[in-house]
Amino acid sequence: MKVLVTGGAGYIGSHTTLCLLEEGHEVVVFDNLVNSSLESMRRVQDLAGRTVEFVEGDLLDASAVASVFSGASFDAVIHFAGLKAVGESVADPLRYYRTNVVGTLNLLDGMNAAGVRRLVFSSSATVYGASEDVPLPESLPLNATNPYGRTKEQIEDILTDISSADERWSIGLLRYFNPAGAHSSGRIGEDPRGIPNNLVPFVAQVAVGRHKAVMVFGNDYPTPDGTGIRDYIHVMDLAEGHLAALHFLKDRTGAFQWNLGTGQGSSVLEVIEAFSTVVSKKIPYEFAPRRKGDAALSYADASSARNQLRWTAKRDLARMCADHWNWQRSNPRGYDSSL
Ligand SMILES: NC(=O)c1ccc[n+]([C@@H]2O[C@H](COP(=O)([O-])OP(=O)(O)OC[C@H]3O[C@@H](n4cnc5c(N)ncnc54)[C@H](O)[C@@H]3O)[C@@H](O)[C@H]2O)c1
Repeated sequence: MKVLVTGGAGYIGSHTTLCLLEEGHEVVVFDNLVNSSLESMRRVQDLAGRTVEFVEGDLLDASAVASVFSGASFDAVIHFAGLKAVGESVADPLRYYRTNVVGTLNLLDGMNAAGVRRLVFSSSATVYGASEDVPLPESLPLNATNPYGRTKEQIEDILTDISSADERWSIGLLRYFNPAGAHSSGRIGEDPRGIPNNLVPFVAQVAVGRHKAVMVFGNDYPTPDGTGIRDYIHVMDLAEGHLAALHFLKDRTGAFQWNLGTGQGSSVLEVIEAFSTVVSKKIPYEFAPRRKGDAALSYADASSARNQLRWTAKRDLARMCADHWNWQRSNPRGYDSSL
């Protein structure tokens, strides 16, 4: 297949691009590098021993999007590009709605004009809001509690509507739980700009001494150790889930939702403990008050992906921490380390 990957230079996009190349697909990446670096593309090409066509461009530039489609005939699009920091979305909602929603509309216009109607979209478990009806099934009502989550919810609605209006569309909405880890080579991984929003990269940065301690938000939740429980999924399992979705969509039309999670929850303290074991030292942490809008526990009902896509997560928390650490210690300043 020839696949256009928006946001392919980013964390999940780079790992998925590598899996696509390894499976023999031709890949064009479209990314404006607002939260990534070209170095990830260089390393993906090294690892795969194949080349990726990279187009630097912004989804908000409709003519740049249209020109990617002109002259190329894509079989499918995987759409990762967007902004993803919840706190930032609360402070600057317009930027989030514009980039995520308007950017997706531009992409859909480009696809429609070019007659490309197979799409895999990066949604998020944040669409379930603070629901604690675990394990969370795809059938739950969507109820995001912040602008970032609402952009995902709105895009899901748009995609479901276009597939109802035109039955040629074939769309997979992938609701990721908590991605973590890195490729086992340690050459590509998550390279957050500024202070990481996610737990595992933060713990890793504490382990290399970039921060004093992990802040644990809330130790009075009704969970066994009082800290929040989440479903951490290895980024390579997630990447493989995209390939499974592409294969499923190949000879089907309609819009489908799948949770991509392990179906297992781990508490914040369990993650810190697992990471401490990998680095063979105690990781300091401090308790802080709960954050508004955080659920006590969230983990996936992953049975739809298992039954329909024949996909399950294979890598456990220990492996996620080991792979994340391998990436972090070889690249203490992320991709900047090699510049
Ligand atoms: N990482 C997570 O915890 C998580 C969880 C659930 C869902 N998601 C979603 O998965 C997708 C990928 O996440 P990620 O962790 O790889 O993020 P990332 O920031 O590493 O990757 C996103 C990529 O999109 C690019 N981009 C942003 N705005 C763009 C624009 N206007 N035009 C072109 N490119 C643009 C960025 O430069 C970056 O390379 C996002 O849509 C995110 O919302 C991520």
